[in-house]
Amino acid sequence: MTTRQPNVYLNGQFLPLEEAKISVLDRGFLFGDGVYEVIPCYAGRLFRLEHHLQRLENSLQAIRMSNPKSTAEWGEILTQLIAQLPGADQSIYLQITRGCTGKRDHAIPTQITPTLFAMTQPASYPDATTLATGITAITLQDNRWQRCNIKATTLLANVLLRSEAMDHGAAEAILIRDELATEGATSNLFIVQEGVIITPPKSDHLLPGITRDLILELAIHHGMANQESTISREALFAADEIWLTSSTKEVMAVIELDGKRVGNGQPGPIYSQMANYYRDYKAQLQAGTKVN
Ligand code: PDD
Repeated sequence: MTTRQPNVYLNGQFLPLEEAKISVLDRGFLFGDGVYEVIPCYAGRLFRLEHHLQRLENSLQAIRMSNPKSTAEWGEILTQLIAQLPGADQSIYLQITRGCTGKRDHAIPTQITPTLFAMTQPASYPDATTLATGITAITLQDNRWQRCNIKATTLLANVLLRSEAMDHGAAEAILIRDELATEGATSNLFIVQEGVIITPPKSDHLLPGITRDLILELAIHHGMANQESTISREALFAADEIWLTSSTKEVMAVIELDGKRVGNGQPGPIYSQMANYYRDYKAQLQAGTKVN
């Protein structure tokens, strides 16, 4: 028996996935001209929806688009979407492309209707073994554009960087630009140096991750020393611990970088503390005893 996929949202309608169709002239398809969000949903509750919608707003503004929906309207659409998997942990994908006109032309048209798409899938968390044992990573030159703070669908560089990491048997690439470590190909970067949790400050060179912000909040809440400052290549290799964060990876320890052990080659003690705080926080969200 095959389980039916939840309906997707496309331009005002909820449809079976196979019936959701867009034009091949959509600028998202032709140019990667669009932005997106990945929003976790814990036990049927959208995680930090306002933060995600604010980042969406910032991405839209940066690519000269206005938001076609209000926060309340997005809230209604996503609530309807997740209601199909009642009470489940899910991952929402939301995408807005600029839409299509009758021809292919790089210039942004003045009159155009955006294409709105959202879907939900049951959450697939990193498994307990991976969380406990950690992952390996390699460093690669950050060859992306200068606007990495925009959550654009134009992800070819990230796709190639992540694939190169996988070719080397690594789970993620940590990116270096101008001798500074910026973030992962699909995640944000933290290191621990002499007991201090360090992550690079927000800039055009990295995505302002919602999970990153939560990790900093948890560090502050639990009185763990932390700081936002640049991480040089040397500091990355000298780090006692390296972590990567994202909505889908949550917080993971890197135990090997470019074939060299990080710390003693196991997830470090500060990571274990943070992973526990993260797990407790999530459990409270799932139980409904905490509101985001
Ligand atoms: N990506 N940096 C990059 C380049 C990312 O692609 C992501 C997440 C992050 C972490 O952001 P957040 O904590 O808000 O998920 C940082 C998502 C999950 C994706 O593209 O699927």
